[in-house]
Amino acid sequence: MQDIEDYLVKERDRQLQELKQLLSIPSISALSEHRGDVRRAAEWIRDSLSRAGFHHAAIMDTPGHPVVYADWLHRPNAPTVLVYGHYDVQPVDPIELWESPPFEPTVRDNHLYARGASDDKGPTFLHIKALEALLAVRGTLPVNVKFCIEGEEEVGSKHLDAFLDEHRDIFAADMVLISDTTMIRPDLPAIVYGLRGLAAGEVELRTASSDLHSGLYGGAVPNAVHALVELLSTFHDPDGRVTVDGFYDDVLEPSAEERAGYATLGHDDEAYRKSLGLTALHGEPGYSTLERVWVRPTLEINGISGGFQGEGTKTVIPSVATAKITCRLVPNQKSDHVLERIAEHVKKHQPKGAVAIFHKGHGGKPYLAPYDHPAIQLAAEAYAYAYPNKAVFTRMGGSIPVVETFSQLLKVPVVLMGFGLNEDRFHAPNERFSLDNFDRGLRTLCYYYSQLGDTWSSR
Ligand code: BES
Ligand code: MN
Ligand code: MN
Repeated sequence: MQDIEDYLVKERDRQLQELKQLLSIPSISALSEHRGDVRRAAEWIRDSLSRAGFHHAAIMDTPGHPVVYADWLHRPNAPTVLVYGHYDVQPVDPIELWESPPFEPTVRDNHLYARGASDDKGPTFLHIKALEALLAVRGTLPVNVKFCIEGEEEVGSKHLDAFLDEHRDIFAADMVLISDTTMIRPDLPAIVYGLRGLAAGEVELRTASSDLHSGLYGGAVPNAVHALVELLSTFHDPDGRVTVDGFYDDVLEPSAEERAGYATLGHDDEAYRKSLGLTALHGEPGYSTLERVWVRPTLEINGISGGFQGEGTKTVIPSVATAKITCRLVPNQKSDHVLERIAEHVKKHQPKGAVAIFHKGHGGKPYLAPYDHPAIQLAAEAYAYAYPNKAVFTRMGGSIPVVETFSQLLKVPVVLMGFGLNEDRFHAPNERFSLDNFDRGLRTLCYYYSQLGDTWSSR
């Protein structure tokens, strides 16, 4: 590996400069005014893959944002790895809290700061550069590689399932490799074998046919904001357990082995509490913090609106109020079932004098798979090449909707090798990617790719 190591040292500045270029493109998939920027990011990835030595680099259109494809398929007897990642990013608000502008990538205290630095442009970029290094130094790759880099992950990957189904042949592979998760600590990497899914919706509550003067009517009529607060307070018991009938119906309990494993990870509730600026943690009784965020479902109110929000006071009785809700789902919950149960709950707990409707939104499937496949085991060991420890196997609480689709559609192992950290501020101001993880991630991937062919054939 010394040849590769030397190459990485020699090329590091150029690689960092390139990543900064990608990070300077504001590819925010949720905002229509950035549609052109999203496409520019796709073009940048395509050109970068092409320059790295991949073939058939192309932008493939979907009804939404495009997918970038490229391949290198010159090892007839070796496995084919499908690398997935996303080049779209989350919105940047609240912008005033950024210490340097989100799309002017800046290095400070050994971190690269920019929106998308760690979720997921940085980690996806590492795959391109690791393979570029192998191709440049050795003139060939140890395995076949295809890329599927999408632009709609942060808005639920809504067109990707149908797109992959339509192009099954193009994306056929022996395994899928993804870097879009986090590590446990800077010295403790993780391979993720389970992710939570998602179910979204919105409560709309109405009382009178218009807002009313609180002097003329106050005391004699219902208030939509009061009614909404009353309704929302019925979703949980005081301990934090969800009280929607049937919510926990299909929930798979974690195995004793999983629970025992999580208990050895050295999670410290007190340090966790302090790091979040909290006076107390809050969650379902009977489960540890890691279990609460990895293997238990949630129902969260993400935002409420209604009534007067302007300067000063307004003596008004609001007639409309709404709340946005998302649930994190775990195996074997189905988003349709959960959303139906919430709709029933809303109807049943509609306060007197109010009409409450639940509008069902999008869903994303949870994921859980065995991790005994040699390609996954090798991934855990590969980290020890560049990190002080090999990786532990954990589930995580975030969602990557396409993972379950890959697993079902291609029926192949999915390897989730993360290089992000919880402190990287995914989706928040001052998102960053640790340059240690940039370097170690590249070395880990070079090592992994170079061993993969042999491991596969001796399996
Ligand atoms: N990369 C994250 C998911 C993630 C983060 C998994 C950390 C494991 C550990 C992904 O980009 C993400 O943010 N997903 C969204 C999906 C949603 C918008 C459909 C999420 O989890 O909220
Ligand atoms: Mn991501
Ligand atoms: Mn994300």
